Amino acid sequence: MLGQAANKVKAALSKALEAKKATLDGAEDGKVGERAPVDLSLPGRRPPVGHSHIVAQVAEELVDIFAELGFQVAQGPDIETEYYNFDSLNTPSDHPARDSHDTFYVKPGVVLRTHTSPVQMRVMEKIKPPVAVVVPGRVYRVDYDASHSPMFYQFEGLLVDEGVSFADLKGTLNHFIHKVFGAKVKTRFRPHFFPFTEPSAEVDISCSVCSGSGCRLCKHSGWIEILGCGMVHPNVFGYAEYDTEKYTGFAFGMGVDRIAMLRHTIPTIHHVYDNDVRFLEQF
Ligand code: DAH
Repeated sequence: MLGQAANKVKAALSKALEAKKATLDGAEDGKVGERAPVDLSLPGRRPPVGHSHIVAQVAEELVDIFAELGFQVAQGPDIETEYYNFDSLNTPSDHPARDSHDTFYVKPGVVLRTHTSPVQMRVMEKIKPPVAVVVPGRVYRVDYDASHSPMFYQFEGLLVDEGVSFADLKGTLNHFIHKVFGAKVKTRFRPHFFPFTEPSAEVDISCSVCSGSGCRLCKHSGWIEILGCGMVHPNVFGYAEYDTEKYTGFAFGMGVDRIAMLRHTIPTIHHVYDNDVRFLEQF
Protein backbone atom coordinates (compact mmCIF):
# COMPACT_ATOMS: atom_id res chain seq x y z
CA MET A 1 0.00 0.00 0.00
CA LEU A 2 2.59 2.51 1.15
CA GLY A 3 4.99 1.47 -1.61
CA GLN A 4 2.34 2.05 -4.30
CA ALA A 5 1.59 5.54 -2.98
CA ALA A 6 5.30 6.39 -2.87
CA ASN A 7 5.70 5.25 -6.49
CA LYS A 8 2.81 7.49 -7.53
CA VAL A 9 4.40 10.50 -5.83
CA LYS A 10 7.77 9.70 -7.44
CA ALA A 11 6.16 9.46 -10.88
CA ALA A 12 4.34 12.78 -10.41
CA LEU A 13 7.51 14.55 -9.24
CA SER A 14 9.58 13.17 -12.12
CA LYS A 15 6.97 14.34 -14.62
CA ALA A 16 6.89 17.82 -13.13
CA LEU A 17 10.72 17.99 -13.13
CA GLU A 18 10.90 16.89 -16.78
CA ALA A 19 8.36 19.54 -17.73
CA LYS A 20 10.28 22.27 -15.90
CA LYS A 21 13.56 21.14 -17.45
CA ALA A 22 12.03 21.37 -20.91
CA THR A 23 10.91 24.96 -20.23
CA LEU A 24 14.33 25.95 -18.89
CA ASP A 25 16.13 24.34 -21.84
CA GLY A 26 13.96 26.52 -24.06
CA ALA A 27 15.17 29.55 -22.06
CA GLU A 28 18.65 29.18 -23.46
CA ASP A 29 17.29 30.18 -26.82
CA GLY A 30 15.51 33.06 -25.18
CA LYS A 31 12.10 31.43 -25.45
CA VAL A 32 10.50 31.04 -22.06
CA GLY A 33 6.89 30.87 -23.11
CA GLU A 34 6.06 34.24 -24.65
CA ARG A 35 8.29 36.28 -22.35
CA ALA A 36 11.32 38.32 -23.39
CA PRO A 37 14.75 36.74 -22.88
CA VAL A 38 16.33 37.14 -19.47
CA ASP A 39 20.10 37.58 -19.26
CA LEU A 40 20.86 36.43 -15.75
CA SER A 41 24.45 37.67 -16.03
CA LEU A 42 23.44 41.36 -16.30
CA PRO A 43 24.06 43.51 -13.19
CA GLY A 44 20.90 44.71 -11.45
CA ARG A 45 19.64 48.29 -11.45
CA ARG A 46 20.54 50.06 -8.24
CA PRO A 47 17.70 51.97 -6.60
CA PRO A 48 18.77 55.59 -6.07
CA VAL A 49 19.84 56.18 -2.47
CA GLY A 50 19.47 59.64 -0.89
CA HIS A 51 21.81 61.42 1.53
CA SER A 52 21.67 64.47 3.73
CA HIS A 53 21.45 67.88 2.05
CA ILE A 54 24.63 69.93 1.69
CA VAL A 55 23.37 72.49 4.23
CA ALA A 56 22.61 69.72 6.74
CA GLN A 57 26.09 68.26 6.15
CA VAL A 58 27.80 71.59 6.86
CA ALA A 59 25.56 72.33 9.87
CA GLU A 60 26.44 68.94 11.34
CA GLU A 61 30.13 69.62 10.80
CA LEU A 62 29.86 72.99 12.58
CA VAL A 63 27.98 71.39 15.48
CA ASP A 64 30.68 68.70 15.78
CA ILE A 65 33.46 71.28 16.01
CA PHE A 66 31.70 73.14 18.84
CA ALA A 67 30.57 69.94 20.57
CA GLU A 68 34.27 69.06 20.96
CA LEU A 69 34.68 72.36 22.84
CA GLY A 70 31.78 71.54 25.18
CA PHE A 71 28.96 73.48 23.47
CA GLN A 72 25.46 71.98 23.43
CA VAL A 73 22.82 72.34 20.72
CA ALA A 74 19.78 74.52 21.46
CA GLN A 75 16.69 75.15 19.32
CA GLY A 76 13.88 77.68 19.19
CA PRO A 77 10.72 78.32 17.16
CA ASP A 78 10.75 79.62 13.55
CA ILE A 79 7.66 81.71 14.32
CA GLU A 80 8.89 84.11 16.95
CA THR A 81 7.63 87.09 18.91
CA GLU A 82 9.01 90.55 18.26
CA TYR A 83 10.10 90.49 21.89
CA TYR A 84 12.56 87.62 21.39
CA ASN A 85 13.55 88.51 17.83
CA PHE A 86 14.18 92.22 18.49
CA ASP A 87 13.30 93.87 21.84
CA SER A 88 15.13 91.50 24.18
CA LEU A 89 18.13 91.74 21.84
CA ASN A 90 18.36 95.48 22.44
CA THR A 91 17.00 96.32 18.97
CA PRO A 92 15.00 99.57 19.24
CA SER A 93 11.44 99.73 17.86
CA ASP A 94 12.54 102.12 15.09
CA HIS A 95 15.42 99.91 13.89
CA PRO A 96 15.29 99.50 10.07
CA ALA A 97 15.55 95.69 10.30
CA ARG A 98 12.09 95.66 11.91
CA ASP A 99 10.49 97.19 8.84
CA SER A 100 8.03 94.94 6.95
CA HIS A 101 10.28 95.45 3.89
CA ASP A 102 12.87 93.27 5.66
CA THR A 103 10.87 91.12 8.10
CA PHE A 104 7.96 88.76 7.44
CA TYR A 105 5.18 89.63 9.88
CA VAL A 106 2.76 86.81 10.73
CA LYS A 107 0.55 89.19 12.72
CA PRO A 108 1.27 92.22 14.91
CA GLY A 109 3.98 91.26 17.41
CA VAL A 110 4.76 87.94 15.68
CA VAL A 111 7.38 87.42 12.97
CA LEU A 112 9.24 84.69 11.10
CA ARG A 113 12.53 84.93 12.96
CA THR A 114 15.07 86.97 11.00
CA HIS A 115 18.05 85.38 12.77
CA THR A 116 18.86 82.61 15.25
CA SER A 117 19.83 85.18 17.92
CA PRO A 118 16.42 85.04 19.73
CA VAL A 119 17.36 81.53 20.86
CA GLN A 120 20.11 83.18 22.98
CA MET A 121 17.42 84.80 25.11
CA ARG A 122 15.24 81.67 25.26
CA VAL A 123 18.25 79.69 26.54
CA MET A 124 19.32 82.35 29.08
CA GLU A 125 15.78 82.50 30.49
CA LYS A 126 15.94 78.76 31.20
CA ILE A 127 19.46 78.19 32.48
CA LYS A 128 21.95 80.06 34.63
CA PRO A 129 25.63 80.42 33.60
CA PRO A 130 27.85 78.76 32.63
CA VAL A 131 26.11 78.65 29.24
CA ALA A 132 27.70 77.28 26.05
CA VAL A 133 25.26 76.64 23.22
CA VAL A 134 25.16 76.61 19.43
CA VAL A 135 21.95 76.99 17.44
CA PRO A 136 21.60 75.76 13.87
CA GLY A 137 18.29 76.82 12.34
CA ARG A 138 16.15 78.32 9.58
CA VAL A 139 15.68 82.07 9.34
CA TYR A 140 13.61 84.28 7.05
CA ARG A 141 14.03 87.69 5.41
CA VAL A 142 12.29 89.63 2.68
CA ASP A 143 15.20 89.35 0.30
CA TYR A 144 15.77 87.69 -3.07
CA ASP A 145 18.77 87.98 -5.41
CA ALA A 146 21.85 85.96 -6.44
CA SER A 147 23.20 85.90 -2.90
CA HIS A 148 19.95 86.08 -0.88
CA SER A 149 17.13 83.64 -0.40
CA PRO A 150 13.96 84.43 1.62
CA MET A 151 14.70 81.35 3.74
CA PHE A 152 18.22 80.38 4.72
CA TYR A 153 20.14 78.75 7.55
CA GLN A 154 22.12 80.40 10.31
CA PHE A 155 24.37 79.08 13.02
CA GLU A 156 24.47 80.97 16.31
CA GLY A 157 26.75 80.61 19.29
CA LEU A 158 26.59 81.89 22.88
CA LEU A 159 29.02 81.46 25.74
CA VAL A 160 28.48 83.07 29.16
CA ASP A 161 30.52 82.57 32.31
CA GLU A 162 32.62 84.49 34.81
CA GLY A 163 35.62 86.17 33.23
CA VAL A 164 34.84 85.55 29.54
CA SER A 165 36.82 88.03 27.40
CA PHE A 166 37.14 89.14 23.79
CA ALA A 167 40.34 87.06 23.69
CA ASP A 168 38.21 83.96 24.37
CA LEU A 169 35.93 84.97 21.50
CA LYS A 170 38.89 85.39 19.14
CA GLY A 171 40.53 82.15 20.21
CA THR A 172 37.31 80.15 19.83
CA LEU A 173 36.43 81.58 16.42
CA ASN A 174 39.98 81.25 15.08
CA HIS A 175 40.01 77.59 16.14
CA PHE A 176 36.65 77.06 14.45
CA ILE A 177 37.65 78.83 11.21
CA HIS A 178 40.89 76.85 10.91
CA LYS A 179 38.95 73.60 11.40
CA VAL A 180 36.49 74.54 8.65
CA PHE A 181 38.74 76.27 6.11
CA GLY A 182 42.17 74.82 6.90
CA ALA A 183 45.09 75.91 9.07
CA LYS A 184 46.53 78.28 6.45
CA VAL A 185 43.56 80.61 6.19
CA LYS A 186 44.05 84.09 7.68
CA THR A 187 41.39 85.82 9.77
CA ARG A 188 40.62 89.48 10.40
CA PHE A 189 38.32 90.91 13.09
CA ARG A 190 36.82 94.18 11.83
CA PRO A 191 34.94 96.58 14.18
CA HIS A 192 31.22 96.55 13.40
CA PHE A 193 27.87 97.30 15.05
CA PHE A 194 25.16 94.93 16.27
CA PRO A 195 22.54 96.08 18.79
CA PHE A 196 22.97 92.97 20.96
CA THR A 197 26.77 93.01 21.33
CA GLU A 198 29.30 95.62 22.47
CA PRO A 199 31.97 95.71 21.21
CA SER A 200 30.98 93.97 17.97
CA ALA A 201 33.01 92.71 15.04
CA GLU A 202 32.68 91.11 11.66
CA VAL A 203 35.16 88.39 10.85
CA ASP A 204 36.75 88.06 7.41
CA ILE A 205 38.82 85.16 6.11
CA SER A 206 41.47 85.38 3.41
CA CYS A 207 39.84 84.52 0.08
CA SER A 208 39.70 80.77 -0.48
CA VAL A 209 40.02 81.18 -4.26
CA CYS A 210 42.91 83.67 -4.64
CA SER A 211 44.41 83.35 -1.11
CA GLY A 212 44.32 87.12 -0.76
CA SER A 213 45.77 88.32 -4.06
CA GLY A 214 42.35 89.50 -5.32
CA CYS A 215 39.69 87.89 -7.51
CA ARG A 216 35.99 88.17 -8.39
CA LEU A 217 34.77 86.13 -5.41
CA CYS A 218 36.37 88.51 -2.88
CA LYS A 219 35.63 91.57 -5.05
CA HIS A 220 39.39 92.10 -5.35
CA SER A 221 39.76 92.82 -1.65
CA GLY A 222 41.42 89.49 -0.76
CA TRP A 223 38.97 89.09 2.16
CA ILE A 224 35.56 87.46 2.57
CA GLU A 225 33.20 88.24 5.41
CA ILE A 226 31.89 85.12 7.11
CA LEU A 227 30.35 86.01 10.47
CA GLY A 228 29.24 88.59 13.00
CA CYS A 229 30.17 88.46 16.67
CA GLY A 230 30.79 90.41 19.84
CA MET A 231 30.56 90.58 23.62
CA VAL A 232 26.97 90.21 24.86
CA HIS A 233 25.50 93.68 25.53
CA PRO A 234 24.71 94.36 29.23
CA ASN A 235 21.12 95.30 28.24
CA VAL A 236 20.66 91.79 26.81
CA PHE A 237 21.86 90.32 30.12
CA GLY A 238 19.37 92.66 31.77
CA TYR A 239 16.45 91.05 29.88
CA ALA A 240 17.85 87.60 30.83
CA GLU A 241 18.20 88.72 34.48
CA TYR A 242 21.86 87.76 34.52
CA ASP A 243 24.15 89.61 36.95
CA THR A 244 26.24 91.89 34.73
CA GLU A 245 28.75 92.43 37.54
CA LYS A 246 29.46 88.73 37.67
CA TYR A 247 29.09 87.45 34.13
CA THR A 248 30.36 88.31 30.66
CA GLY A 249 29.85 86.43 27.44
CA PHE A 250 30.39 86.32 23.72
CA ALA A 251 28.04 85.54 20.84
CA PHE A 252 28.38 84.97 17.12
CA GLY A 253 26.22 84.21 14.11
CA MET A 254 26.83 83.09 10.54
CA GLY A 255 25.07 81.77 7.42
CA VAL A 256 25.43 78.01 7.01
CA ASP A 257 24.70 78.20 3.27
CA ARG A 258 27.37 80.86 2.94
CA ILE A 259 29.97 78.59 4.53
CA ALA A 260 28.85 75.76 2.21
CA MET A 261 29.07 78.05 -0.84
CA LEU A 262 32.59 79.19 0.05
CA ARG A 263 33.79 75.66 0.74
CA HIS A 264 32.48 74.32 -2.56
CA THR A 265 32.71 77.52 -4.67
CA ILE A 266 28.97 77.53 -5.39
CA PRO A 267 28.17 80.71 -7.34
CA THR A 268 24.57 81.37 -6.28
CA ILE A 269 22.56 80.56 -3.18
CA HIS A 270 19.65 79.37 -5.35
CA HIS A 271 21.59 76.25 -6.34
CA VAL A 272 21.58 75.38 -2.65
CA TYR A 273 17.82 75.70 -2.17
CA ASP A 274 16.33 74.84 -5.59
CA ASN A 275 16.52 71.13 -4.78
CA ASP A 276 17.75 70.07 -8.22
CA VAL A 277 18.96 66.51 -7.63
CA ARG A 278 21.65 66.89 -10.33
CA PHE A 279 23.22 69.57 -8.11
CA LEU A 280 22.56 67.98 -4.72
CA GLU A 281 23.94 64.54 -5.62
CA GLN A 282 27.42 66.06 -6.13
CA PHE A 283 27.95 66.47 -2.37
N1 DAH B 1 22.16 88.00 14.16
C1 DAH B 1 23.14 88.57 13.26
C2 DAH B 1 22.59 88.54 11.85
O1 DAH B 1 21.57 88.01 11.61
C3 DAH B 1 24.43 87.81 13.32
C4 DAH B 1 25.10 87.96 14.64
C5 DAH B 1 25.99 89.00 14.85
C6 DAH B 1 24.82 87.10 15.68
C7 DAH B 1 26.62 89.17 16.05
C8 DAH B 1 25.45 87.27 16.91
C9 DAH B 1 26.34 88.32 17.09
O2 DAH B 1 25.22 86.46 17.94
O3 DAH B 1 26.96 88.46 18.26
O4 DAH B 1 23.18 89.02 10.95
